[in-house]
Amino acid sequence: MSNNAFIVNTESLSKSFGKNFALKNLNLHVPKGITGFVGRNGAGKTTTIGVLLGLLKPTSGKASIFGLDCWKDSYQIRSKLGVMHETNAYPGGFTAKRYLEHVARIYGISQTEEHINAQLKAVDLWNVREKPIKTYSAGMFRRLGLAQALISDPELVILDEPTANIDPLGRATILSIIKEMNKKRGTSFLISTHILSDLEKVCSWLSIIDAGAIVDQGFVDELSSKYSANTYKIVVSNPQFLVEKLKSAEFIQKVWIEKEIVYCQVKNEAAFYSEVPKIATNLKLQLKTLQHMTGTIEEIYAKTAGGS
Ligand SMILES: Nc1ncnc2c1ncn2[C@@H]1O[C@H](COP(=O)(O)OP(=O)(O)O)[C@@H](O)[C@H]1O
Ligand SMILES: [Mg+2]
Repeated sequence: MSNNAFIVNTESLSKSFGKNFALKNLNLHVPKGITGFVGRNGAGKTTTIGVLLGLLKPTSGKASIFGLDCWKDSYQIRSKLGVMHETNAYPGGFTAKRYLEHVARIYGISQTEEHINAQLKAVDLWNVREKPIKTYSAGMFRRLGLAQALISDPELVILDEPTANIDPLGRATILSIIKEMNKKRGTSFLISTHILSDLEKVCSWLSIIDAGAIVDQGFVDELSSKYSANTYKIVVSNPQFLVEKLKSAEFIQKVWIEKEIVYCQVKNEAAFYSEVPKIATNLKLQLKTLQHMTGTIEEIYAKTAGGS
């Protein structure tokens, strides 16, 4: 993909705080859709987001969103962006409704009432809209943050750790709202997180950061096959027979059975594809499935950033 196919680009982006470099030649590329920006604590996610939002000036290198420079054109960019920061302070005495009215006014949104009602419903805060924010749970705070980020109908929403410190049900709700917004309004999301299990269901693209640099990025399904450890699945009429034969085959690294299914780690893929059907035929076995296994996001992460 060429760089102008991406909505967010950084080019050799570095950012230091005193002598310490938080970002070192970071090349982040984010396409339209839902992107997971993944890395352990301290990897540089929040610093990157700070640069993207024009809050931090790059020490060297460049960052752009929609082709606009994040430092120089920050004002123009911000009108197309929604943001939820890692930590957010809300006026506890306000109700969600009043708070969003206040935010809408800052954005200069017309037909405020209608718009706010739609947001409150979208993030599932409609029933508590008249309650003071200070009575909300952690999950409700995050949903309010999401409503705030979405209020101007932005093209891109940047969420810094939207699912940290909330329970699994709360996390699932946040993720389903994100998915829904992407489907309904075509909103793109850049979601920073260190919680991998969350991403599997929502992200189409993954950018993995470690020690201030991108270690790999791409469409989730492409990365899955790339890091899938050459594992294949074979369904055959008599798995035990096949396994005995495969154990001594040169192109096999490892072979085992789980629940009547044969799994192999393969050294030579071409030989594997040509030989396995022959072996099965010679043994008079019926070969039902021969399939490459794809890796999970956890596997991809373990093989790039090394896990946390
Ligand atoms: N304002 C700052 N002053 C000094 N060091 C900072 C500052 N902000 C971040 N850092 C350092 O930069 C690195 C990256 O931090 P951060 O971007 O917050 O990572 P993440 O969001 O991935 O957890 C860390 O080593 C952190 O201590
Ligand atoms: Mg952070």
